Amino acid sequence: MKFVIKGGRKLNGEISLSGAKNAATKMMVASLLTEEACSLENFPEIGDGHITAELCRSVGSKVDIQSGRLDIHTPEIKTFRVTSLTRRNRIPILALGPLLARVGKAEVPILGGDKIGPRPVDIHLDALRVMGAAIKINQNSYAAEAKNGLHGAKIALRFPSVGATENTILAAVLAKGRTIIQNAATEPEITDLIKMLQKMGAIISLGTNRTIYIDGVDKLRGARHRILPDRNEAVSFACLAVATGGRILVKGARQDDLITFLNMLRRVGGEYDVLDDGIAFYRRDNLRGVEVETDTHPGFMTDWQQPFTILLTQAKGNSIIHETIYEDRFGYTKDLNLMGADITVFTKCLGELSCRFSGENYQHSALINGPTPLKAANLEVRDLRSGIAHIIAALIAEGESVISGVEEIDRGYERIDERLGQLGADIKRVH
Ligand code: EPU
Repeated sequence: MKFVIKGGRKLNGEISLSGAKNAATKMMVASLLTEEACSLENFPEIGDGHITAELCRSVGSKVDIQSGRLDIHTPEIKTFRVTSLTRRNRIPILALGPLLARVGKAEVPILGGDKIGPRPVDIHLDALRVMGAAIKINQNSYAAEAKNGLHGAKIALRFPSVGATENTILAAVLAKGRTIIQNAATEPEITDLIKMLQKMGAIISLGTNRTIYIDGVDKLRGARHRILPDRNEAVSFACLAVATGGRILVKGARQDDLITFLNMLRRVGGEYDVLDDGIAFYRRDNLRGVEVETDTHPGFMTDWQQPFTILLTQAKGNSIIHETIYEDRFGYTKDLNLMGADITVFTKCLGELSCRFSGENYQHSALINGPTPLKAANLEVRDLRSGIAHIIAALIAEGESVISGVEEIDRGYERIDERLGQLGADIKRVH
């Protein structure tokens, strides 16, 4: 599937945020921890939701997704093996904890690397091992067993991985005793997952210094939860407003989740008004170059650098993006250069700090020289976030761009073509 996009229009109007993809899918997995029914409101109709529904159904869940609501019920785990998925995302590894907790065994497919880096799961597996799981790495799967059940443990993560923090929490809520996770990730989607688990009967506290305490309970019950709005969508739409020179009210956007982004947007020359029902974004003056370093929460998120780079191609002077979360997340800058951008990537750390990739051969820093007008191009989507950057670039480029492989964008952005069309974008989906 492709998008055909004609650039050059200012986008104006209102757009409502969907529920956060990176919370919704984890909450579906969390529902496997109880034999009672759970429902999720503000559920995004995205590809990743359907892929995760397939995973849950494969182990015995009944799943019903209808107009912004998901009902899920797993009275019995029918199999501990998640091996026959037709489509993949990063979620199956998170099923290890709930399956171990409910049936003492779990087997999930090996996910492999993807287009943004190797994405290993060693931190997940180490944590589960400390909690009493024996894990075998087969050619195509991770097979785990906890003969005597999982027990609480003190676990210091070597890096505050989002997925490993979630996996450990999901395993710990039904484990025997107390689990302490040090150096945990603290992303808002994790807090929202904790809120859902608390409604289900879990005992979880957030301590200072990235520490999470979980006191295992015997049983969890069903719950109804409203998923937090997607802050990654909010940033994408904010960049769209500033890039096209329009004004977009992003309904549901929460200042709390976006503080670092809002500061950076103002530095570059964007502006925003925080309103009761969302945040309105627009351009204040000519854009100017800035230095950005991606980081774990509450830093500037790695999923924001791609749409933000489009602004930097239009900003006067040099800008730097130092990507410290993923090794290989600048492939899309080649596409932008084809469109007329001037971006060079480096293996050294640009900017003030050296990061854990220092001395490695990863192209993880980008120097952007602007402003450069962009012209239309034919592009192939590499991954979700660079896909949205392609769309924003095409919307400010002169001429007609064709973006193929948009299924990848549909994985995380609900009906993006229709919603952008309502803001005045000239975008058509071609099958
Ligand atoms: N890492 C390890 N070992 C592990 C786990 C992670 O070395 O066991 C490394 C990764 O290779 C990576 C870094 O730690 O370099 C961060 O990975 P993390 O585990 O924090 O990320 P994730 O859980 O795989 C989630 C989101 C990503 C988002 C990151 C960072 C989901 C499904 N994915 O990934 O979102 O970029 O956190 O915030 O929640 C997206 O939505 O497009 C997306 C990629």
